[in-house]
Amino acid sequence: MTGLLGCAPDVELSPPPAETGATSSTSTLVTGRLVGRFPPEAPDLDPAPDVLHVALTASIGAMFDHSVTWAYERTVPGPTLRARVGDTLVVDLHSDLPDDTSIHWHGVHLPWDQDGIEWIQTSVPPGGDRTYTFPLDRAGTYWYHPHFDSAGQVDAGLYGMLVVEDPAEPMPDADWVWVFDVLDEALEDTGSATDHAHGSATASPPWVVNRGVDPEFTVAGGSVLRVRVLNASNTGYLHLDWPGARAIGGDQGLWAAPSDTLPVLAPGDRLVVEFRPAEAPVDVLALPVSLFGGPSPLDTARRVATIRPDPPGPEGAQLSWPFSGAAPAQDGPADLVFTLSGDGEDWRINQQTWPDVTIPEVPLGTEVVVEVRNLSGARHPWHLHGLPFEVLSVDGVSLTTRTTEDTFDVDIRQTVRTRITADLAGDWMAHCHILPHAHGGMMTVIRVQ
Ligand code: C2O
Ligand code: CU
Repeated sequence: MTGLLGCAPDVELSPPPAETGATSSTSTLVTGRLVGRFPPEAPDLDPAPDVLHVALTASIGAMFDHSVTWAYERTVPGPTLRARVGDTLVVDLHSDLPDDTSIHWHGVHLPWDQDGIEWIQTSVPPGGDRTYTFPLDRAGTYWYHPHFDSAGQVDAGLYGMLVVEDPAEPMPDADWVWVFDVLDEALEDTGSATDHAHGSATASPPWVVNRGVDPEFTVAGGSVLRVRVLNASNTGYLHLDWPGARAIGGDQGLWAAPSDTLPVLAPGDRLVVEFRPAEAPVDVLALPVSLFGGPSPLDTARRVATIRPDPPGPEGAQLSWPFSGAAPAQDGPADLVFTLSGDGEDWRINQQTWPDVTIPEVPLGTEVVVEVRNLSGARHPWHLHGLPFEVLSVDGVSLTTRTTEDTFDVDIRQTVRTRITADLAGDWMAHCHILPHAHGGMMTVIRVQ
């Protein structure tokens, strides 16, 4: 299928863009200058309405500012894959990279042999090809990235968004993708100061949005936007201060209830926002937030993007999103417990370092309560492949509404209890999504059979 909503064409940020006059083909409200840059949408190679078939070539390719990047289809972020729930996704990966690679479909409920991981499965060598095929059975805002040397390859630019739309949701005037990243983190990781990008001294790292520094996005006042935000950074925590934005969803589609408070986004996390530009430009700021807890007094908020209404117009009405209001499931005793510990470059789960881990086994078809305890002095975003989980409680306190996630931040000394439905067999990786922590050993596997 083809993209339904108004993702703008690709316009470079620098040098300052010219008038493009480009408009979305499906929206009358999104008009005017497109100063901000959006990833292009991948063209669909299959005319069948319920198949999205795309080709992705990974290569050393795009050049942005001073850094040469690794890219899918020579663009960073990589092309947005936009499908509808119920579609089948087919991706032909060809690699012209100098190193092995793979594509992991972060957050997607999918057959294990399509998960794109290095654990047991083989990677794609230089010059190699691999086709991934799987059904998209849940709406959500997913992303894709290599699971081979993830810290290096993700930081180099290999990432893109996979949007699975739910036709039951209302159509905003435009559906934007904002991928946040911090450049050259892996380079810094090889130095002595591994925490430089998010450390206690500089708590708000230099964010780029769709690889642009402080871009300006122009859209007609009166439009109603859905903005899908991804934190693709290796280590940076993103706390947006975005006046007027309403949080409506996260990793796994629409939330049970909206929120006017935007959560902190850990590495790998997504957030979906409804935003209604009107008369005045709105600056989106990143507030200082540290991996080591709280804001830093040494840093201040930084502007990361601006949305300029052009022409200005009266504010549009909120859309009626079908929030379920569902209550959380009952918290209960843990079947599996994972402790997170370590420091420096040595990070552990249950006191073990990947790949020397004990693998717990879970019977297929069962429900399992998984407790994650952070015993360390840093935060860790807990990510489980393939099996999205419900968050039952944080430090024993139940959440107010049903919350389904695939990446959930576990704060310092916090205990988070989750419930998974083990409905897919496989060796599902579970790890911290701070990529240097994962590489430092904070990874394990849950075996479902
Ligand atoms: Cu997005 Cu195992 O990772
Ligand atoms: Cu971590």
